[in-house]
Amino acid sequence: MVELAFSILAADFAHLADEIARAERGGGTIVHVDVMDGHFVPNITFGPPVVQAIRPITKLPLDCHLMIEDPDKFIPDFAKAGADMISVHWETCKHLNRTLQHITDHGMLPGVVINPATPVDFLVEVLPMVHHVLVMSVNPGFGGQNFLPRSVERIAHLRRMRQEMGLNFRIEVDGGVADDTVESVVRAGADMLVAGSAIFAHGKAEENARQFLRIARRAAEVSV
Ligand code: DX5
Ligand code: ZN
Repeated sequence: MVELAFSILAADFAHLADEIARAERGGGTIVHVDVMDGHFVPNITFGPPVVQAIRPITKLPLDCHLMIEDPDKFIPDFAKAGADMISVHWETCKHLNRTLQHITDHGMLPGVVINPATPVDFLVEVLPMVHHVLVMSVNPGFGGQNFLPRSVERIAHLRRMRQEMGLNFRIEVDGGVADDTVESVVRAGADMLVAGSAIFAHGKAEENARQFLRIARRAAEVSV
């Protein structure tokens, strides 16, 4: 099943609860929370207090994408704040197995993220332990960037590895995913679709989400 994980980075922060409610009414089923520290990526966003603030306003799972150095240090805080899924960057983890285990031990679903320049094959040792793999389709740090077309082949490659290894992790994609790019990533095998600016544009999250999902589901039907 393809799902929309709407990224609140592009939402109107002064009306975050309304924005989340609109995206949810439009069919979004995962809240994607982009956590940036100004070190791993050249931007700063939000952390556990924002996760804690949105926890009571929605029943949807909270998918926290940690673009931070030393993620291990903050995993307990995100668990306490109510996060359901945590994704950590391959590029930031010295002992990735340990970090993924740490996430699981805190009762959350672990995911690993790779930047566009990191070979998909580098994930082979951790694939059996993850709930999802997040393939970045832009360099992380900002919303509203252009989709990198190589990402389509990277997703397809990951899907082949999944099949060869007999695993069933989910494939998430993040960055520049919009009405004009979503079809290609769904056909390649992505089923957790992160979208920020495409959803929150013009204060019309409900309509945008509905349209986005219509395109994504149609692509999923033709590719089975
Ligand atoms: C980028 C973030 C993305 C971002 C996506 O570093 O990880 O989740 O919010 O935004 P759009 O959909 O605008 O590319
Ligand atoms: Zn993200």
